[in-house]
Amino acid sequence: MNLTTRLETLRTSAIDRLAAAGDVAAVERLRSDLLGRTGELTILLKDLGTIPIEDRPSVGRLANEVRGALEAAIDTRLAAMRETALEARLADEAFDMSLPGRPRAVGHLHPILTLIRDLREIFHAFGFEVFEGPEIETEEYNFELLNIPPDHPARDLWDTLYVAEPGSVEAGASRPAADGTILRTHTSPVQVRAMRALDPPIRVLMPGRCFRYEAVDPSHGFEFFQVEGLVVDRDTSLADLKGMLEEVARALYGRGVRTRFRPGYYPFTEPSVAFDIGCLVCGGEGCPACGRSGWMTILGAGMVHPVVLRAGGLDPAEYQGYAFGMGPDRMTMLRHGIGDIRLFFSGDLRFVTQFVEGR
Ligand code: DAH
Repeated sequence: MNLTTRLETLRTSAIDRLAAAGDVAAVERLRSDLLGRTGELTILLKDLGTIPIEDRPSVGRLANEVRGALEAAIDTRLAAMRETALEARLADEAFDMSLPGRPRAVGHLHPILTLIRDLREIFHAFGFEVFEGPEIETEEYNFELLNIPPDHPARDLWDTLYVAEPGSVEAGASRPAADGTILRTHTSPVQVRAMRALDPPIRVLMPGRCFRYEAVDPSHGFEFFQVEGLVVDRDTSLADLKGMLEEVARALYGRGVRTRFRPGYYPFTEPSVAFDIGCLVCGGEGCPACGRSGWMTILGAGMVHPVVLRAGGLDPAEYQGYAFGMGPDRMTMLRHGIGDIRLFFSGDLRFVTQFVEGR
């Protein structure tokens, strides 16, 4: 075989072997096998001296061409291998942007809190500001200052949860705290706190949690909310109270809502009224939620008793006021047609997740 043929054969076989090299190391090995100092091309060129002198330039050119071609082919092959490896790594590490995200549960307000917020907005339009008082109260604020002295039979209206005298539970003989600390049975004590803290004219809304030692049934819980309202000014009347409450009922339940005032009794108002709404659960026919009466009492109200005004540091000869205490739990039942108050605190997601409109 002459040198030219051997060079051409080397070129062809080298290209085939290059294609068969599986990784970068194999290609590098091939480079040194072919082009290294003891490589196949180098050895082959040692025979250059054995051919006729006039053939040497052309064979030499061919040898250079083969070397150049092999070097280029090796470099191209290495670059392609590095590119493929990079692509594989990128693909391996990549996020798949087209995968759907994991849904995150977003909470919402409890329907009672939604209603309390709506009340705040409605009363805001009547010029009320929000004023809050403590859930743990004293008997003085919860009763005495509201014209309910210790021996007054009206105390029986409120089944109180007492805070135990420190040590008495451990001693096995629990008794009410001697300093009169109790859980408030209503938000009315905040009226006195507001009168003591603010100067007339006063228009405050006092929302909050209340507690009573009650047997739980479809319309009573031992823990519930109230939203108290108080207006104190020089020229207020029961007519103002009635007109405003009817407007509030329409804002909450729509213009078709039926309402009625009944005479009521509360020690801290004189005169006192109860404000009822036609039961929206049963449409007025009578059901467990309305005690089969067709009506639901959503608040008590009246003109603030002079004793209470005095307790708040105000002169009844100069100021009068009206007050009202709403039951947002029952008002929420009316709004959504909920038949059992116990569902509110049942912790059952099937119940609460129905009220996603809460803001
Ligand atoms: N505190 C009363 C209750 O818990 C509700 C109430 C009645 C509040 C009349 C008032 C009011 O402010 O004037 O039953």
